[in-house]
Amino acid sequence: MPHYLVTGGCGFIGSHLCDALRRRGDAVRVLDDLSTGHRGNLAPGASLIVGDIADPAAVRAATEGVDGIIHLAAIASVERAAQDWLGTHRVNLTGTIAVFEAARARHLPVVYASSAAVYGDNAALPLSEEAMTRPLSAYGADKLGCEQQARVAGLVHGVPTAGLRFFNVFGPRQDPASPYSGVISIFCDRLARGEAITVYGDGQQTRDFVNIADVVRALLAGLDRASTAAPVFNVCTGRPTSVLTLAETIAALCGVPLQLAHQPARSGEIRHSLGDAGRARAVLGLGEPVGLREGLADVVAWLRADRPALVPG
Ligand code: NAD
Ligand code: UD1
Repeated sequence: MPHYLVTGGCGFIGSHLCDALRRRGDAVRVLDDLSTGHRGNLAPGASLIVGDIADPAAVRAATEGVDGIIHLAAIASVERAAQDWLGTHRVNLTGTIAVFEAARARHLPVVYASSAAVYGDNAALPLSEEAMTRPLSAYGADKLGCEQQARVAGLVHGVPTAGLRFFNVFGPRQDPASPYSGVISIFCDRLARGEAITVYGDGQQTRDFVNIADVVRALLAGLDRASTAAPVFNVCTGRPTSVLTLAETIAALCGVPLQLAHQPARSGEIRHSLGDAGRARAVLGLGEPVGLREGLADVVAWLRADRPALVPG
């Protein structure tokens, strides 16, 4: 049975990936410092090492006996990266180099999380992997640094990698109470309780919301596509959704009237973010993405199961 190390396996994306690996019978070891992840997210049957991704000895020890690494551990918030520039850099870029170095020593393939944040304010939509990268944040700059170090890992050290540029990922287990959580978990939580939501700006801004199930499929497929050419793939749907349409869809799903307040647009807000899913479909063999409505229903159902006392219906 194949054995994988999943860094950040107690987080949102990592825990869903570990569930999928366990379901297909693979052995799973998680390395996580539990800073934003939770022990309760650990997939049944997976083992956990609590440790820091930027500690090379911890990473090397965690890779013993595994057949591949899926590297998701990071400080996944643009705002936190802005507050703690150097600390985030240590985790997000130094931590990734520690993973590549351990992979070099043990001849392992690595699939790692990049981000649509590498594109920054590039307006050439939809964004293909060939589009210019112009990060607007320390977070995006470090993710781009990960991609460049992956190139070095392949060219200089023979480490096969695949980088996945996730767009706006959503699904169960995204904490709506976190100040860094995405719009979908916030809207689903508030509307399912029958509360009002806040829309920043006119609500016509659009995002490419990709379901966690599609992200897990891309990660699993990435394992077979890791190569020393260090390919990168968008993980997106290619379908734009405005914030207002999102709010209306969630309100309809929850069976509540839509009460919304408008606040000024966030500073530095990107108006439209949309990925081109063509390369991932062709090379990773991904099919049609999960429909937005279906994915939203999963989030609402999870919130209702998790917080039954707070949610009507
Ligand atoms: P998350 O915060 O839920 O998961 C990150 C995990 O990494 C957590 O379990 C956390 O405890 C762990 N971690 C953080 N610092 C660590 C350290 N120093 N050592 C060991 N473990 C550490 O976030 P997520 O949304 O699941 O993100 C997973 C990956 O995907 C990250 O690399 C993130 O940058 C990337 N990503 C996410 C999105 C999204 O929309 N969620 C979009 C683009 C990229
Ligand atoms: C994402 C990051 C953000 C980063 C940005 C850089 C997440 C959760 N956020 O933001 O940290 O700065 O990429 O590109 O990954 N919205 C509302 N009401 C709300 C919450 C959000 O109207 O209560 C709007 C936002 O203004 C935005 C859209 O919803 O237009 C999506 O917001 P969000 O989920 O935070 O993602 P990004 O803006 O893409």
